[in-house]
Amino acid sequence: MTVETLMGRRIEELDRPVRGDPITGERYYSQRWAQAEWDHVWTKVWHIGGMAADLLDAGDFLTHNLGRESIVMLKQEDGSVRAFYNACKHRGYRLAWTEVGGAPHLVCGYHGWKYAPDGTLVDVQDPDDFPGGSPCGKTKLEEIPCEVWGGFVWFNMDRDTKPLGEWLGPLGKVLEQWNMGKMTRVMALKSDVPCNWKIIRDNFNESYHLPTLHPQISNVIDDALESTVFEMYPEGHNRMIMMGLRPSGRYSTADILEMPLAQALEFWDLDPKDFEGRASEARKAILAQKRKLYQEKGHPHYEGMDDAALVDYHHCTLFPNTTFTMWPDGVQLLRSEPHPTDPERCIFDHWFMAHPIGGSDMVMGPMGPTQFEPVDRETIVFGEKTLGDVADQDMSVAIGQQQGLHSRGYTGGILPNQEKRVQAFHEMLNDMCDIHD
Ligand code: FES
Ligand SMILES: [Fe+2]
Repeated sequence: MTVETLMGRRIEELDRPVRGDPITGERYYSQRWAQAEWDHVWTKVWHIGGMAADLLDAGDFLTHNLGRESIVMLKQEDGSVRAFYNACKHRGYRLAWTEVGGAPHLVCGYHGWKYAPDGTLVDVQDPDDFPGGSPCGKTKLEEIPCEVWGGFVWFNMDRDTKPLGEWLGPLGKVLEQWNMGKMTRVMALKSDVPCNWKIIRDNFNESYHLPTLHPQISNVIDDALESTVFEMYPEGHNRMIMMGLRPSGRYSTADILEMPLAQALEFWDLDPKDFEGRASEARKAILAQKRKLYQEKGHPHYEGMDDAALVDYHHCTLFPNTTFTMWPDGVQLLRSEPHPTDPERCIFDHWFMAHPIGGSDMVMGPMGPTQFEPVDRETIVFGEKTLGDVADQDMSVAIGQQQGLHSRGYTGGILPNQEKRVQAFHEMLNDMCDIHD
């Protein structure tokens, strides 16, 4: 999609009808909903288990805990990755306890059973003491589908799932131009947040809240409805495109040049003075400079990217819970996962993956200048440390919404057209969970 086709008008290329089912409050706090989601959603979709770059040698592993379940993903001798339930076949002890690790064998910490990277049990204590003879070589960890794509290791608990590429569908193709597989994860924050996972999803499935909740970004991202593109893809995935490097068209200040945009102009060898009173023209000018100077300015990853990818924000959500916000130089992952036991809590992830910029050891991330080096997930006690300015603003309302949704005064939601992705998300859940009351 070109800048010209995006400029100044709203395009709905991909659309589908919704029914208008009421979005009930109960889905945000009941065990009934949490159990139905586990049975019909979480165990049926593809999940990101970790970073492929963390797996170097055979036996290296990643673990990912999802709800009460835990998955271990192991690098194989042939370089591929396989995923298994992280539970010992002896008496169920969890095998791998760190998110990243590695050893020639996975050894159970309870009675010492040893597994090869392909999941085969290879050594046990007292092998001749079993009624049917030694279980070694006959027993394997329970394997589930696993693939590597976009720099991530993915797993799916449904053995009959369609392949990842088919599930990603056309949105997967759209995402390819940013080359996520060549990025490095430079920020990975995780927190246990006191709201249902869907409250965070609803927030990321609409941009209606931007003027109220994130007014600070309106001087560099155009949050006007007229210029925002909404697309709905198969499998419940979606995309929203907002014009970047352009102040919001909602206000009479659309041509006032402010700091972030002035800095971008300077970086791309343009004089901010030339754009005073003409801020809405900066975007096109920067685009032209990016096309001209990207190699010399250390941005070789721009090769092959289309105009909209070079200047706009593409907020791509994979059903049900993973959002990639694509910037020209990196991607934010925003994900909410169910809490193991409490439907009124969830696990929130905020990661940033970036391309290196020239020889610099720094990149610009959602928390400002960030060291360009791979990081492990860091657990933040909610409220004690920031998850990023914008994410903190989103989380602050999520908690208030969790409270309000319990009220007898909340009767099911009144949504504008631009929140159609919220409506579609809930209707898909209603259908998958077969709950229609
Ligand atoms: S539970 Fe793993 S060896 Fe006993
Ligand atoms: Fe937000």
